[in-house]
Amino acid sequence: MKIGHCLIRLESCTSTNDIAREYALKGAAEGTVILAKEQTQGRGRQGRAWYSPKNKGLYLSIILRPPISGLSLLPLLAGLAVEEALHRMGVSVGLKWPNDLVWSGRKVGGILSEGNYSGNRLNFAVVGIGLNLHHEEEDFPQRLRQSAASLRQISGAGVDKQAILPRLWKAFNRWYGLFLSGKAERIVEAFQKGCLFPLGAGLIVDGEEGKVRGRYRGIDRWGGLILECRGKQRSLYAAEIKSVREAKEA
Ligand code: BTN
Repeated sequence: MKIGHCLIRLESCTSTNDIAREYALKGAAEGTVILAKEQTQGRGRQGRAWYSPKNKGLYLSIILRPPISGLSLLPLLAGLAVEEALHRMGVSVGLKWPNDLVWSGRKVGGILSEGNYSGNRLNFAVVGIGLNLHHEEEDFPQRLRQSAASLRQISGAGVDKQAILPRLWKAFNRWYGLFLSGKAERIVEAFQKGCLFPLGAGLIVDGEEGKVRGRYRGIDRWGGLILECRGKQRSLYAAEIKSVREAKEA
């Protein structure tokens, strides 16, 4: 089934990712979307909360039943789909590996991709998308006011949720279609193009082994961040970019 053809709209819920998981466990088809006006326990990556006040943002989760290989490309392709949908509405945002949508150094959206497994078998994945649409500064908690922004703050007008959805389904179906047909390189290439910083940028990345410093060398075909540290290249998957310095070399 195409993504967005079955849309379940909720006034309020804990987290659309949790509701999507419940539906998926009951057998909901691939492409089913849960969309809520507010979340009371919205979640971000690394155990963080995703602040989700009523009617201020886009909070949705998509049920996918993909093959297990290349699963870490899902947040990247979801980011590309959101970026493309926004671009078609005249709003330009950048991508920050692995899951942030950023404008002028501020986070406007994020992706939370979660898998459900039986042993090594993937049962389904849920891709959650959060986008700040209509927040004014005072709608963000104090601690986020310097680092977060909404599309209203960017564009002056905000982006209408109903207008963005069809564009999002279209873009998501296209990127997910490429993923299913094994065209990982197309996703990687586009992500590198939309990436906020150039090849060769100096990064500090917080990963499983703590903070690592290195040079950005691209994205691998599984969606990992290629970092060169002391002349050796390695791919990082579960990590977060903490700071970016200018590129000295390409
Ligand atoms: C992040 O940047 O840390 C990811 C944020 C993801 C937020 C979305 S909002 C819809 C879905 N439901 C959740 O609880 N989280 C995701």
